[in-house]
Amino acid sequence: MENIKIIELKKRPWVVAHRGYRAKYPENTIAAFEAAIAAEADMIELDVCLTRDRIPVVIHDKTLDRTTNGQGLVSAHSLAELKELDAGSWFGAEFKGEAIPTLEELLLKIKGRITVNIEIKPESFEAPAPPDAIEVQVCEMVEKLEMADSVLISSFEHFFFGRIQRWYRDQNISAKIRTATLQEAPLADDFAVALCQRHQAYSYHPNECLVTPELIQLLQTEGLRIFPYTVNAEKRMEQLIKWGVNGIISDEPELLWKVIRRLQFSG
Ligand code: G3P
Ligand code: MG
Repeated sequence: MENIKIIELKKRPWVVAHRGYRAKYPENTIAAFEAAIAAEADMIELDVCLTRDRIPVVIHDKTLDRTTNGQGLVSAHSLAELKELDAGSWFGAEFKGEAIPTLEELLLKIKGRITVNIEIKPESFEAPAPPDAIEVQVCEMVEKLEMADSVLISSFEHFFFGRIQRWYRDQNISAKIRTATLQEAPLADDFAVALCQRHQAYSYHPNECLVTPELIQLLQTEGLRIFPYTVNAEKRMEQLIKWGVNGIISDEPELLWKVIRRLQFSG
């Protein structure tokens, strides 16, 4: 399902596939995203940063070394150079030839099929913002492809959010893009709520170890949603679902579905 408004109607937690089906496929590749769609995830999560020639590409680390056969900073390479690299073999010989996708390629591939959480990496934050800043390029792409109801934009760099709201205001686009504040470090529950409100967030995405039933309650009372990352253990999935999280960001979408079905959520 590609529309967030329709997933919202389902009375069950959402399955968000972290970097695609990361447990079984090379992360942030088309293979991983296709596998997440096949596993019936509600949403895929992916990471974007800029190449040297300022093209948004889908890769998690700021360097190429861990997930490709290249070396050095992503931002030091042109798209043409990155396209020569193999982003699959490190994970398994059967994935040889998987490429680093551009954000646009990925969006075109999934359009009409699944929703997407685009995480903008803090390393791509620029001050002052140039006209082709990453957040501007992401918004332009989402609007050009008419995918606003399929997209949730998140970041650990919360300064992106004001810029995103401003871009929408400047374009006179009345519909609001959904954004989510990512949070790694401990934060008092009321600060978490205030943070989301300040940034007009749709949802709060904390490290899963920061989640408590009280935090969930407080956020939801204020009309906010909570999607913790990254939960791969069955017992913890079960606990968070029983506490009432709106969804879970996981490398294991099929395992998460198994837990959801066992707890007898339908739809
Ligand atoms: O968006 C949730 C999660 O992906 C944030 O952390 O480092 O896996 O991108 P990371
Ligand atoms: Mg991420």
